Amino acid sequence: MSLQDIQNILATARDNNQGQGICGMLSYEQSYFLQALEGERAVVNELYLEIAEDPRHDYIEILSYEEIDEPVFGNWQMGFAPASDKFYELLSSVGLSRFEPAQFSPQQAFEFLHGLSQLQSSE
Ligand SMILES: Cc1cc2nc3c(=O)[nH]c(=O)nc-3n(C[C@H](O)[C@H](O)[C@H](O)COP(=O)(O)O)c2cc1C
Repeated sequence: MSLQDIQNILATARDNNQGQGICGMLSYEQSYFLQALEGERAVVNELYLEIAEDPRHDYIEILSYEEIDEPVFGNWQMGFAPASDKFYELLSSVGLSRFEPAQFSPQQAFEFLHGLSQLQSSE
């Protein structure tokens, strides 16, 4: 996956998500994505099905699905954090040595994405 491929995904996501009241956070390293989607349940479900059929990935798995009172990633139509020193520091701070999202607990996935979103807002 090239930087251009990621930029294309983000451009589409940000465009569509704004119109649909969706927000979230996306991270990517080497061969895996980890993404949080927040919004109305039916809209999130619909988008999930669309992303599931996207040929730009081979496999998709839901790590956690829950009702929330307030969006956590409300500042971003779709925030993005590529791998960086801080990315790896954050990964180890939530108790992980490698970016293999299928191995993350729901809590680790949330803490990692939340940490990335806070790095974005402080930069
Ligand atoms: C990892 C990944 C994350 C994506 N995230 C979103 C997203 O948050 N919102 C979105 O509309 N499309 C997202 N897409 C793209 C969708 O799969 C799909 O291409 C898009 O919704 C189609 O939009 P269009 O009909 O406007 O072209 C994502 C794709 C990938 C591979």
